[in-house]
Amino acid sequence: MWEYTDKVMDHFLNPRNAGEMDNPSAVGEVGSLACGDALRLFLKINDAGVIEDATFQTFGCASAIASSSALTELLKGKTVDEAKALTNKDIAAFLGGLPKEKMHCSVMGQEALDAALKNWRGEAAPAPAAEGTLVCKCFGVTEETIRRAIRENDLKTVEDVTSFTKAGGGCGDCIPDLERILAEERAAMARPAGEAPKMTNIQRMMLVTKVIEEEIRPALKKDGGNIELVDIEGATVKVALRGACVGCPSSQLTLKGLVEKRLQEAVDPDIRIEEVRS
Ligand code: FES
Repeated sequence: MWEYTDKVMDHFLNPRNAGEMDNPSAVGEVGSLACGDALRLFLKINDAGVIEDATFQTFGCASAIASSSALTELLKGKTVDEAKALTNKDIAAFLGGLPKEKMHCSVMGQEALDAALKNWRGEAAPAPAAEGTLVCKCFGVTEETIRRAIRENDLKTVEDVTSFTKAGGGCGDCIPDLERILAEERAAMARPAGEAPKMTNIQRMMLVTKVIEEEIRPALKKDGGNIELVDIEGATVKVALRGACVGCPSSQLTLKGLVEKRLQEAVDPDIRIEEVRS
């Protein structure tokens, strides 16, 4: 049995603002009955962009109903910009906390709010998740939802991800994907702001090849020259000049000013070019 705060119980037993709204300015809908939870949020927004009223219809457990009720209370009187800044943590905090295993109910509230604000801005309702972004098929959870929950709630384990999003709580087929996404997000969170992710050797090799093929070679060919990628050792890229570039008095300028500079910009500032003569 879950331990609920008095406030959760109060909002579950006496939900505020429950029911459909006549002529809402915006509607946001998330979840599905098949997945066990569904929430429809209605907003009345005035010309000044203030949320005058918010109501909901929810199908779900006690914490889903309490989270929806809390969300509507939090929204009333806020501007759209203030509402946009609300997170699932605000919903849980309003209720004095939720059991960890029920945090997904607060995430559902945040998603319904996002959907409603999109609807108000006239943006198309989120399409059913495209194959590539749908990570958990059992609960219809997208990669975007999972990454956001990890970042905003500092999640550290796959069990945490399941508690906050439900992903992984069914057949378990998506667990390897959850592990990968969690590792990527934790690595990104550990990096100092603004620092680019470290590339693997294979990634560096592929990117160097792409830039040479698509940008540098076509530029040299215009003047009858050419370039061949010979090898890559760490940050050292070994190339051979071909065609009109061979023996050209400005070949060093080409290597430093064009090839090295472009690869430093596009791939890695540490890249150094070494010419191989053959
Ligand atoms: S696909 Fe995620 S639990 Fe089944």
